[in-house]
Amino acid sequence: MKKTLLLLVSLILFISSCSNNNKNESMPSYIEESHSFSQPNDAAITHLDLDINVDFDNEIIHGKASYLINNNDASEIILDSKFLDIENVQADGNDTSFSLGDFDEQLGNPLKIEIKKNTKRITIFYKTTHKTEALQWLNPQQTADKKHPFLFTQGQAILTRTWIPIQDSPQIRITYNAKVKVPSNLMAVMSAENPKTKIPNGAYTFKMAQPISPYLIALAVGDFDYKAISDRTGIYAEKSILDKAHYEFSDMENMVASAEKLYGKYAWEQFDVIVLPPSFPFGGMENPRLTFATPTVIAGDKSLTSLIAHELAHSWSGNLVTNATWNDFWLNEGFTVYFEMRIMEALYGKDRANMLAKIGRQDLEEELEGFKDAPNDTKLKLNLKDRNPDDGMNSIAYDKGYLFLRTLEETVGREKFDAFLKNYFQTHAFSTINTEKFIDFLNTNLLEKYSITFNTNEWVYEAGVPSNQSIIVSDKFETVEKTIQQFVKTNTVDKALTKDWTTQEWVHFVRNFPSDIKTEHLAMIDEAFNLTNSNNSYIAMVWYEQAINHDYHGNNIDTKIEDFLIKVGRRWYVSTIYKAFKRNNKTDEALAIYTKARPNYHAVTANTIDALLGYNQD
Ligand code: BES
Ligand code: ZN
Repeated sequence: MKKTLLLLVSLILFISSCSNNNKNESMPSYIEESHSFSQPNDAAITHLDLDINVDFDNEIIHGKASYLINNNDASEIILDSKFLDIENVQADGNDTSFSLGDFDEQLGNPLKIEIKKNTKRITIFYKTTHKTEALQWLNPQQTADKKHPFLFTQGQAILTRTWIPIQDSPQIRITYNAKVKVPSNLMAVMSAENPKTKIPNGAYTFKMAQPISPYLIALAVGDFDYKAISDRTGIYAEKSILDKAHYEFSDMENMVASAEKLYGKYAWEQFDVIVLPPSFPFGGMENPRLTFATPTVIAGDKSLTSLIAHELAHSWSGNLVTNATWNDFWLNEGFTVYFEMRIMEALYGKDRANMLAKIGRQDLEEELEGFKDAPNDTKLKLNLKDRNPDDGMNSIAYDKGYLFLRTLEETVGREKFDAFLKNYFQTHAFSTINTEKFIDFLNTNLLEKYSITFNTNEWVYEAGVPSNQSIIVSDKFETVEKTIQQFVKTNTVDKALTKDWTTQEWVHFVRNFPSDIKTEHLAMIDEAFNLTNSNNSYIAMVWYEQAINHDYHGNNIDTKIEDFLIKVGRRWYVSTIYKAFKRNNKTDEALAIYTKARPNYHAVTANTIDALLGYNQD
């Protein structure tokens, strides 16, 4: 009896393994994804050999992208391509036919390439065009040193396809080698093993030996130098800002060490940062081995370096364990904010971490208010089909994601939560995960294991913030709030009360003026603290927002705001300011500035502000 049962079981196992064999066993199965035309279950790229020329005179990149592929009996492989000029395609060294399918505004075109069952390699000869959205070509005036041009790429979320034809889905993972030819007086670096000095003939080679998602392929070319912080961390920056940047980020090695202590070994060997020109559209971008960063975080007093902790944290949440689709973006960003706060707490203590968390909590509140007519957009798990993934890249993923994880931590206790997270990163290293798989993993490895009940589904699949949310308390911020009241009530400023304030306290101060604060009060505050001329970009930005809200025009602030918007392209900053103009029925003023500022913006920022202000290029 027992024997027959055993036989039956083996038979079933055998049959099911046979049916599995229809698919190539080494291929992971990819889930449906609405932001890529590729069909990786049929044929998927596994390795890229990129060989390109960076032509600053014509502002194009041309060359070839050659892929090893995993072919599952398919007769074609589909790549994503947007605004690329595809010249020729080869399969295993012979010309093969290819076609570009219909153009989609968000996604570009599917590039369909004919292959044979046994095709191992495809090679695409191509050029970028002036419509490329990933690349920003800067003239010398737009750089710190003002002597040489500069180029950088931005891949996330779906822009890599505008500079390399590729299967541009976060579920894809590839290793890459690259040969990049640049003018001999410039240096090139990538999200890969990098040179530390210039190569005289401008012919650079790169290797990324760990498999990464296509949105993490990145390149920067310009006249910059390298300065090490430790044997595995350091800074690339233009000469005139290298020492300042090196000082500002000198805690980087400590950050890596404390991150490793929390959630396991750093998987990418080297952690460097390149400081880009101020038009870089983000605070930071977690390109593996080489974070791209805005110069606006160089405040002189290390007060904005949580950005580095954030991008470093992505080395685990995002780069090692990657969101499977852009609907699962909160798995990248929410986890990263949580991890960022833990690094900040470990290095600088709870006060600082709680101030940062509280600022994020206010961002979340404002975002929720902005989405009051679109509650679906306040869910962690999104549905971005037929929309630009950018639509999901707001405070919900970051700050609601964070609040969820913080609440979970407080519910289960830090010790269990840390062990769980470490296990999560280890188990899913170098793979992708979606929200459903995460919830399964959470249930099995934490909640059921310790018989804890938690309203995970409400947090993830419902709008708004559940009532069991962790309450973030900051004593320092409570003092700041009292100070505001006192200044306004007494019509005087007591400088003694602010003398030890950090950047975060100033930001909280400025953001929490009573809504009916008088212009005279702003003038009084500006006279005492000269916030209009603050060298801290964050404080300046929130102050400009308030000036616009409350019609304050003293201290020559209008010129200052205009200069800021022309110089800085960081999307979060500039969109906050343009939104303030719009909210206060000053769209014409905004447009007048925007017309001058737009040429300095990367496409990511320009697209957002075009839509916000209804700007029409023609
Ligand atoms: N990965 C993001 C930047 C990003 C998000 C680029 C979505 C493209 C699409 C990066 O890690 C980030 O979150 N940057 C923030 C920094 C901050 C939260 C500390 C930024 O740019 O402001
Ligand atoms: Zn991030």
